[in-house]
Amino acid sequence: MKALIYLLALTSLLFANADKADIVTCEKCHPIIAAEFESSMHKKSSIYEDKIHKAVWDLHPAKEKGDYKCAKCHTPNATTQEEKHAGITCISCHTIMDVEKHAKANKNIYTDKPKTFYSAEAGRESEKVIYKTTTSWWGNKTTIGSAYHDIDYTNEKFYNGEMCMGCHSHKQNSHQFDVCTTDEAGAQDKKQNCITCHMPKIDGTATTVRLSKQHAFHGFAGARVKPELLSIYVDLDFKESADGFEVTIDNKAPHNLMTHPLRVVQLKAVLIRDRKQIALPTHSFVKVIGKEGKPTMPWLATEVVKDTMIKANEKRVVSFDEQLKSGDKVEVKLGFYIVNPKVLKKLNLDGDKELKKFTVLKGKSFNVK
Ligand code: HEC
Ligand code: HEC
Ligand code: HEC
Ligand code: HEC
Ligand code: HEC
Repeated sequence: MKALIYLLALTSLLFANADKADIVTCEKCHPIIAAEFESSMHKKSSIYEDKIHKAVWDLHPAKEKGDYKCAKCHTPNATTQEEKHAGITCISCHTIMDVEKHAKANKNIYTDKPKTFYSAEAGRESEKVIYKTTTSWWGNKTTIGSAYHDIDYTNEKFYNGEMCMGCHSHKQNSHQFDVCTTDEAGAQDKKQNCITCHMPKIDGTATTVRLSKQHAFHGFAGARVKPELLSIYVDLDFKESADGFEVTIDNKAPHNLMTHPLRVVQLKAVLIRDRKQIALPTHSFVKVIGKEGKPTMPWLATEVVKDTMIKANEKRVVSFDEQLKSGDKVEVKLGFYIVNPKVLKKLNLDGDKELKKFTVLKGKSFNVK
């Protein structure tokens, strides 16, 4: 009897830790990657760790019915109550075999081979590594692969970014309206794609077992985590014009500069003349969704109400009608708000200081000759 109780206690303990088991295991041999992952929005994608996601879910009509439809992408491996706390895990990505295209949202097809992980590495595109230990005729033991899992390097989707598109491509609401989309163009080219921009190679070994100089950044640079890693993909240019000046915003990303409809991008400019600072009009860029010409929550939206968002690979010219003089200096900043300040109140997030912050993606100053 005692043993049975012990066994039950042990099993429930195992289940209680099920959400962490995956990362805890991987951490043993991939500590740098696991630590980065802890800081990522993929790790924090559940209602327990993402307050914005929770705020939207709290207002969602499906909440009353307890029908958490967001799980498909926000907590894809959750099957038990405990696991619902876990967001996306290492397994959620590394077992994606294929991505099926659908109108409502794409679907990840996961491999059913136990402990086989897909990955990418230049020069090993045709390899499948099955873990084994070999003993040579002079008695030396060599191990090949990982003692915990097999690795399949042959999945093309891990080289061109297509494996990101099961969750990131698009999402329709019940009115067959696309609430958000990310252009497919960014997931086709092996040289530059979702992975190369959002998971740049940085210093530090990928595993403690087989040392490497670099690894792919697993904090996933984005709007909320390390946007500075992406600032190289936006540029600002300046030109005097007949009746003022122009600032060109060059978006080198193959998708809208911001993809989520909650965001607002802004260009702020200050004119410095005779040591005085004069703030010039701020320009905002948004994609607002709604119904009958008015903004609504995403589940009610049937149309794009306003779209001034900077598009994929666009060079947007913004005109200022301020006459410049020799010796003037113009400081410009391109940045964004995570949540449109106009929506904070509706989401009951207006008390949150952090969300009122303007994040600068790129700043430059220009001297007038
Ligand atoms: C016992 C140590 C160990 C554990 C535990 C472990 N790995 Fe690994 N992993 C390795 C080693 C060693 C390699 C490198 C193998 C090689 O290069 O041949 C590797 C390689 C990988 C790769 C491919 C790396 C590449 O070179 O592209 C992925 C992906 C991966 N592991 C994911 C995971 C995940 C996810 C977990 C947790 C579920 C995990 N690993 C747990 C040892 C481990
Ligand atoms: C098809 C996959 C998918 C489904 C289903 C899904 N989401 Fe998301 N969600 C995403 C992706 C991908 C992002 C990040 C995309 C971006 O920033 O463009 C995201 C981001 C968000 C954000 C912004 C979070 C932040 O950190 O600012 C909110 C809020 C959100 N989702 C709410 C929901 C709610 C509520 C549901 C369920 C009713 C839901 N999502 C269902 C894929 C999905
Ligand atoms: C050339 C580099 C580049 C490529 C390729 C790229 N992105 Fe981005 N991405 C950016 C930049 C720049 C931003 C805006 C800066 C930021 O979010 O901090 C961004 C922002 C994002 C965001 C946050 C947007 C928001 O509204 O919160 C998501 C999510 C994202 N990209 C996903 C993807 C996916 C998925 C792909 C592949 C289909 C992809 N990106 C391809 C550069 C790139
Ligand atoms: C959002 C998807 C996603 C998640 C979640 C994810 N990975 Fe990865 N991981 C990738 C992709 C894509 C690559 C291939 C990057 C490349 O081109 O080298 C990769 C590469 C790796 C590598 C290869 C070494 C390298 O950096 O080049 C290891 C090891 C690895 N991941 C382990 C993990 C572990 C451990 C976790 C959880 C702590 C994890 N991954 C979570 C997508 C993911
Ligand atoms: C299992 C679904 C899933 C997959 C696969 C996935 N993502 Fe995400 N991703 C999400 C969700 C959900 C969010 C929003 C999390 C939140 O903010 O609550 C997100 C957020 C992001 C963000 C925004 C982070 C920020 O700071 O704003 C970036 C960038 C991103 N993903 C890039 C990628 C890339 C690159 C890949 C492929 C290597 C990928 N994702 C694969 C579901 C996924």
